[in-house]
Amino acid sequence: MYVVDLKGKNGIVFGVANEHSIAWAIAKMLHGAGARLTITYQNERFGERVSQMTESMKDVHLIECDVSKDESIEAAFDDVKREYGNLDLVLHSVAYANKDDLKGEFSKTTRSSFLMSLDISAYSLIPIVKHAAPLMERGGSIVTMTFQASERVFPGYNVMGTAKAALENEVRQLASEFGWRNIRVNAISAGPLETLASRGIYGFLTMRSIHAEKAPLKRNVTHEEVAKTALFLCSDLSSGITGSVIPVDAGYHIMAL
Ligand SMILES: NC(=O)c1ccc[n+]([C@@H]2O[C@H](COP(=O)([O-])OP(=O)(O)OC[C@H]3O[C@@H](n4cnc5c(N)ncnc54)[C@H](O)[C@@H]3O)[C@@H](O)[C@H]2O)c1
Repeated sequence: MYVVDLKGKNGIVFGVANEHSIAWAIAKMLHGAGARLTITYQNERFGERVSQMTESMKDVHLIECDVSKDESIEAAFDDVKREYGNLDLVLHSVAYANKDDLKGEFSKTTRSSFLMSLDISAYSLIPIVKHAAPLMERGGSIVTMTFQASERVFPGYNVMGTAKAALENEVRQLASEFGWRNIRVNAISAGPLETLASRGIYGFLTMRSIHAEKAPLKRNVTHEEVAKTALFLCSDLSSGITGSVIPVDAGYHIMAL
Protein backbone atom coordinates (compact mmCIF):
# COMPACT_ATOMS: atom_id res chain seq x y z
CA MET A 1 0.00 0.00 0.00
CA TYR A 2 1.23 3.51 -0.79
CA VAL A 3 0.97 6.51 1.52
CA VAL A 4 -1.70 8.47 -0.28
CA ASP A 5 -4.95 9.15 1.51
CA LEU A 6 -8.06 9.40 -0.67
CA LYS A 7 -10.54 8.91 2.19
CA GLY A 8 -13.62 11.09 1.63
CA LYS A 9 -13.00 11.22 -2.15
CA ASN A 10 -15.58 9.90 -4.62
CA GLY A 11 -14.55 8.55 -8.00
CA ILE A 12 -15.99 7.04 -11.16
CA VAL A 13 -14.05 4.56 -13.29
CA PHE A 14 -14.79 3.77 -16.94
CA GLY A 15 -13.15 0.77 -18.61
CA VAL A 16 -13.11 -2.30 -16.39
CA ALA A 17 -13.72 -5.40 -18.53
CA ASN A 18 -11.75 -8.03 -16.61
CA GLU A 19 -8.83 -8.58 -14.19
CA HIS A 20 -6.32 -7.56 -16.88
CA SER A 21 -7.90 -4.16 -17.57
CA ILE A 22 -5.66 -1.20 -16.76
CA ALA A 23 -8.77 0.40 -15.21
CA TRP A 24 -9.01 -2.52 -12.78
CA ALA A 25 -5.41 -2.07 -11.59
CA ILE A 26 -6.12 1.63 -11.09
CA ALA A 27 -9.51 1.05 -9.40
CA LYS A 28 -7.86 -1.30 -6.88
CA MET A 29 -5.15 1.28 -6.18
CA LEU A 30 -7.65 4.14 -5.68
CA HIS A 31 -9.89 1.96 -3.53
CA GLY A 32 -6.90 0.82 -1.47
CA ALA A 33 -6.14 4.49 -0.78
CA GLY A 34 -9.65 4.95 0.62
CA ALA A 35 -11.68 6.36 -2.30
CA ARG A 36 -15.36 5.44 -2.71
CA LEU A 37 -15.78 4.21 -6.26
CA THR A 38 -18.45 3.79 -8.88
CA ILE A 39 -17.17 1.30 -11.41
CA THR A 40 -18.90 1.22 -14.77
CA TYR A 41 -18.97 -1.68 -17.23
CA GLN A 42 -19.81 -1.44 -20.91
CA ASN A 43 -22.73 -3.88 -21.06
CA GLU A 44 -24.26 -7.04 -19.56
CA ARG A 45 -21.55 -9.17 -21.15
CA PHE A 46 -19.03 -7.71 -18.68
CA GLY A 47 -21.45 -7.07 -15.81
CA GLU A 48 -21.33 -10.47 -14.14
CA ARG A 49 -17.54 -10.66 -14.26
CA VAL A 50 -17.07 -7.15 -12.85
CA SER A 51 -19.63 -7.87 -10.16
CA GLN A 52 -17.69 -10.99 -9.07
CA MET A 53 -14.40 -9.06 -9.13
CA THR A 54 -15.75 -6.34 -6.83
CA GLU A 55 -17.76 -8.62 -4.53
CA SER A 56 -15.43 -8.29 -1.55
CA MET A 57 -14.76 -4.54 -1.99
CA LYS A 58 -16.44 -2.12 0.40
CA ASP A 59 -17.89 1.15 -0.90
CA VAL A 60 -17.95 0.11 -4.55
CA HIS A 61 -21.02 0.81 -6.63
CA LEU A 62 -21.53 -0.76 -10.08
CA ILE A 63 -23.39 0.64 -13.06
CA GLU A 64 -23.63 -0.12 -16.75
CA CYS A 65 -22.49 2.63 -19.12
CA ASP A 66 -21.99 2.54 -22.87
CA VAL A 67 -19.94 5.65 -23.68
CA SER A 68 -21.13 5.67 -27.29
CA LYS A 69 -24.60 6.68 -26.02
CA ASP A 70 -25.22 10.16 -24.58
CA GLU A 71 -28.18 8.97 -22.50
CA SER A 72 -26.07 6.21 -20.96
CA ILE A 73 -23.35 8.68 -19.88
CA GLU A 74 -26.00 11.04 -18.52
CA ALA A 75 -27.65 8.23 -16.55
CA ALA A 76 -24.28 7.22 -15.05
CA PHE A 77 -23.66 10.75 -13.75
CA ASP A 78 -27.27 11.06 -12.47
CA ASP A 79 -26.56 7.93 -10.51
CA VAL A 80 -23.27 9.34 -9.14
CA LYS A 81 -25.07 12.53 -8.12
CA ARG A 82 -27.75 10.55 -6.26
CA GLU A 83 -25.20 8.24 -4.63
CA TYR A 84 -22.50 10.76 -3.58
CA GLY A 85 -23.67 14.32 -4.26
CA ASN A 86 -20.18 15.31 -5.38
CA LEU A 87 -17.31 13.83 -7.32
CA ASP A 88 -13.51 14.15 -7.05
CA LEU A 89 -11.97 11.61 -9.44
CA VAL A 90 -12.66 10.31 -12.94
CA LEU A 91 -10.75 7.59 -14.76
CA HIS A 92 -11.43 7.25 -18.50
CA SER A 93 -9.77 4.03 -19.68
CA VAL A 94 -11.85 3.20 -22.73
CA ALA A 95 -10.97 2.49 -26.36
CA TYR A 96 -12.34 0.45 -29.23
CA ALA A 97 -11.58 -0.27 -32.88
CA ASN A 98 -12.60 -3.11 -35.16
CA LYS A 99 -9.95 -5.84 -35.11
CA ASP A 100 -9.65 -5.61 -38.92
CA ASP A 101 -8.65 -1.94 -38.60
CA LEU A 102 -5.76 -2.80 -36.26
CA LYS A 103 -3.73 -4.44 -39.01
CA GLY A 104 -2.84 -3.82 -42.64
CA GLU A 105 -2.81 -0.52 -44.47
CA PHE A 106 -3.98 2.61 -42.67
CA SER A 107 -5.25 4.09 -45.96
CA LYS A 108 -7.91 1.34 -46.05
CA THR A 109 -9.60 2.65 -42.91
CA THR A 110 -13.28 3.12 -43.74
CA ARG A 111 -15.27 6.20 -42.80
CA SER A 112 -17.55 4.20 -40.51
CA SER A 113 -14.63 2.52 -38.69
CA PHE A 114 -12.88 5.85 -38.28
CA LEU A 115 -15.98 7.50 -36.84
CA MET A 116 -16.67 4.63 -34.46
CA SER A 117 -13.09 4.41 -33.14
CA LEU A 118 -12.81 8.16 -32.67
CA ASP A 119 -16.27 8.31 -31.08
CA ILE A 120 -15.59 5.65 -28.43
CA SER A 121 -11.87 6.21 -27.87
CA ALA A 122 -11.61 10.00 -28.06
CA TYR A 123 -14.95 11.83 -28.19
CA SER A 124 -16.27 10.00 -25.10
CA LEU A 125 -13.91 11.95 -22.82
CA ILE A 126 -15.71 15.21 -23.71
CA PRO A 127 -19.24 14.34 -22.47
CA ILE A 128 -17.73 12.55 -19.48
CA VAL A 129 -15.87 15.70 -18.41
CA LYS A 130 -18.93 17.86 -19.21
CA HIS A 131 -21.07 15.79 -16.82
CA ALA A 132 -18.36 15.34 -14.19
CA ALA A 133 -17.41 19.02 -13.88
CA PRO A 134 -20.64 20.29 -12.24
CA LEU A 135 -20.22 17.58 -9.55
CA MET A 136 -16.62 18.63 -8.83
CA GLU A 137 -17.42 21.58 -6.59
CA ARG A 138 -14.24 21.13 -4.58
CA GLY A 139 -12.01 20.62 -7.65
CA GLY A 140 -11.07 17.25 -9.08
CA SER A 141 -8.73 15.08 -11.09
CA ILE A 142 -9.57 13.45 -14.43
CA VAL A 143 -7.20 10.87 -15.90
CA THR A 144 -7.34 9.20 -19.31
CA MET A 145 -5.20 6.52 -20.94
CA THR A 146 -3.19 7.06 -24.11
CA PHE A 147 -0.35 5.49 -26.12
CA GLN A 148 2.67 6.87 -27.98
CA ALA A 149 1.07 5.95 -31.33
CA SER A 150 -0.50 9.42 -31.00
CA GLU A 151 2.76 10.90 -32.28
CA ARG A 152 4.79 8.08 -33.86
CA VAL A 153 3.84 5.30 -36.22
CA PHE A 154 3.35 1.90 -34.64
CA PRO A 155 2.39 -0.50 -37.46
CA GLY A 156 -0.91 -2.13 -36.55
CA TYR A 157 -2.10 0.70 -34.35
CA ASN A 158 -3.56 2.54 -37.36
CA VAL A 159 -6.80 4.41 -36.57
CA MET A 160 -6.17 4.06 -32.84
CA GLY A 161 -3.10 6.28 -33.28
CA THR A 162 -5.38 8.95 -34.76
CA ALA A 163 -7.81 8.49 -31.86
CA LYS A 164 -5.02 8.89 -29.29
CA ALA A 165 -3.78 12.08 -31.01
CA ALA A 166 -7.31 13.50 -30.72
CA LEU A 167 -7.60 12.34 -27.11
CA GLU A 168 -4.34 14.04 -26.09
CA ASN A 169 -5.46 17.27 -27.72
CA GLU A 170 -8.73 17.06 -25.77
CA VAL A 171 -6.74 16.68 -22.55
CA ARG A 172 -5.05 20.03 -23.20
CA GLN A 173 -8.27 21.82 -24.21
CA LEU A 174 -10.26 20.44 -21.26
CA ALA A 175 -7.42 21.23 -18.82
CA SER A 176 -7.43 24.79 -20.09
CA GLU A 177 -11.22 25.11 -19.85
CA PHE A 178 -11.61 23.74 -16.32
CA GLY A 179 -8.34 24.71 -14.64
CA TRP A 180 -9.86 27.82 -13.00
CA ARG A 181 -12.10 25.47 -11.01
CA ASN A 182 -9.11 23.39 -9.89
CA ILE A 183 -10.23 20.50 -12.08
CA ARG A 184 -7.12 18.89 -13.51
CA VAL A 185 -7.09 16.76 -16.68
CA ASN A 186 -4.12 14.54 -17.55
CA ALA A 187 -3.25 11.45 -19.58
CA ILE A 188 -0.97 8.52 -18.85
CA SER A 189 0.84 7.20 -21.91
CA ALA A 190 1.44 3.58 -20.95
CA GLY A 191 3.87 1.13 -22.48
CA PRO A 192 2.34 -2.06 -23.92
CA LEU A 193 0.47 -4.21 -21.37
CA GLU A 194 -1.35 -7.46 -22.04
CA THR A 195 -5.08 -6.77 -21.92
CA LEU A 196 -8.23 -7.63 -23.86
CA ALA A 197 -7.86 -4.48 -26.00
CA SER A 198 -4.13 -4.85 -26.74
CA ARG A 199 -4.55 -8.52 -27.77
CA GLY A 200 -6.55 -7.23 -30.73
CA ILE A 201 -3.59 -5.26 -32.14
CA TYR A 202 -1.77 -7.10 -34.88
CA GLY A 203 1.85 -7.85 -33.87
CA PHE A 204 1.25 -6.73 -30.28
CA LEU A 205 3.51 -9.36 -28.68
CA THR A 206 6.40 -8.43 -31.00
CA MET A 207 5.88 -4.77 -30.15
CA ARG A 208 5.94 -5.63 -26.46
CA SER A 209 9.25 -7.47 -26.74
CA ILE A 210 10.83 -4.67 -28.84
CA HIS A 211 9.74 -2.20 -26.15
CA ALA A 212 11.41 -4.28 -23.43
CA GLU A 213 14.60 -4.60 -25.45
CA LYS A 214 14.93 -0.89 -26.37
CA ALA A 215 13.58 0.83 -23.26
CA PRO A 216 16.23 2.32 -20.93
CA LEU A 217 14.90 0.18 -18.07
CA LYS A 218 15.26 -2.93 -20.31
CA ARG A 219 11.83 -4.29 -19.49
CA ASN A 220 8.13 -3.68 -19.94
CA VAL A 221 6.14 -1.71 -17.43
CA THR A 222 3.59 -3.37 -15.15
CA HIS A 223 -0.08 -2.66 -14.55
CA GLU A 224 0.89 -1.67 -11.01
CA GLU A 225 3.35 0.98 -12.23
CA VAL A 226 0.65 2.56 -14.37
CA ALA A 227 -1.79 2.42 -11.45
CA LYS A 228 0.75 4.09 -9.12
CA THR A 229 1.00 7.01 -11.55
CA ALA A 230 -2.79 7.24 -11.67
CA LEU A 231 -2.85 7.32 -7.87
CA PHE A 232 -0.33 10.18 -7.94
CA LEU A 233 -2.43 12.07 -10.52
CA CYS A 234 -5.58 11.54 -8.45
CA SER A 235 -3.92 12.79 -5.27
CA ASP A 236 -2.82 16.16 -4.00
CA LEU A 237 0.82 15.15 -4.71
CA SER A 238 0.21 16.18 -8.35
CA SER A 239 -1.67 19.41 -7.53
CA GLY A 240 0.48 21.48 -9.91
CA ILE A 241 0.06 19.18 -12.94
CA THR A 242 -2.64 19.55 -15.58
CA GLY A 243 -2.94 19.16 -19.35
CA SER A 244 -0.01 16.73 -19.36
CA VAL A 245 0.68 13.41 -21.00
CA ILE A 246 2.87 11.42 -18.62
CA PRO A 247 4.78 8.51 -20.15
CA VAL A 248 4.90 5.35 -18.02
CA ASP A 249 6.81 3.22 -20.49
CA ALA A 250 10.18 2.31 -18.91
CA GLY A 251 11.60 5.30 -20.83
CA TYR A 252 10.93 3.89 -24.32
CA HIS A 253 9.70 7.26 -25.62
CA ILE A 254 13.14 8.91 -25.36
CA MET A 255 14.86 6.41 -27.65
CA ALA A 256 15.45 7.01 -31.36
CA LEU A 257 17.03 3.62 -32.04
N1 LIG B 1 -2.89 -2.30 -23.02
C1 LIG B 1 -2.00 -1.45 -23.51
O1 LIG B 1 -0.92 -1.82 -23.98
C2 LIG B 1 -2.29 0.03 -23.49
C3 LIG B 1 -1.23 0.94 -23.62
C4 LIG B 1 -1.51 2.31 -23.61
C5 LIG B 1 -2.82 2.75 -23.48
N2 LIG B 1 -3.82 1.82 -23.37
C6 LIG B 1 -5.19 2.33 -23.23
O2 LIG B 1 -5.71 1.96 -21.98
C7 LIG B 1 -7.13 1.98 -22.05
C8 LIG B 1 -7.68 0.70 -21.44
O3 LIG B 1 -7.37 -0.41 -22.26
P1 LIG B 1 -6.88 -1.81 -21.69
O4 LIG B 1 -5.61 -2.11 -22.37
O5 LIG B 1 -6.98 -1.84 -20.21
O6 LIG B 1 -7.93 -2.84 -22.32
P2 LIG B 1 -9.39 -3.30 -21.83
O7 LIG B 1 -9.97 -4.05 -22.98
O8 LIG B 1 -9.31 -4.00 -20.54
O9 LIG B 1 -10.15 -1.91 -21.63
C9 LIG B 1 -10.85 -1.25 -22.65
C10 LIG B 1 -12.19 -0.92 -22.07
O10 LIG B 1 -12.95 -0.13 -22.97
C11 LIG B 1 -14.29 -0.49 -22.76
N3 LIG B 1 -15.15 -0.04 -23.84
C12 LIG B 1 -15.02 -0.24 -25.19
N4 LIG B 1 -16.09 0.30 -25.83
C13 LIG B 1 -16.89 0.87 -24.87
C14 LIG B 1 -18.13 1.53 -24.91
N5 LIG B 1 -18.80 1.77 -26.04
N6 LIG B 1 -18.66 1.98 -23.72
C15 LIG B 1 -18.01 1.76 -22.55
N7 LIG B 1 -16.84 1.11 -22.46
C16 LIG B 1 -16.29 0.65 -23.61
C17 LIG B 1 -14.24 -2.02 -22.66
O11 LIG B 1 -15.42 -2.55 -22.08
C18 LIG B 1 -13.03 -2.18 -21.76
O12 LIG B 1 -13.43 -2.16 -20.41
C19 LIG B 1 -7.48 2.20 -23.51
O13 LIG B 1 -7.72 3.56 -23.73
C20 LIG B 1 -6.20 1.77 -24.21
O14 LIG B 1 -6.06 2.36 -25.49
C21 LIG B 1 -3.59 0.49 -23.36
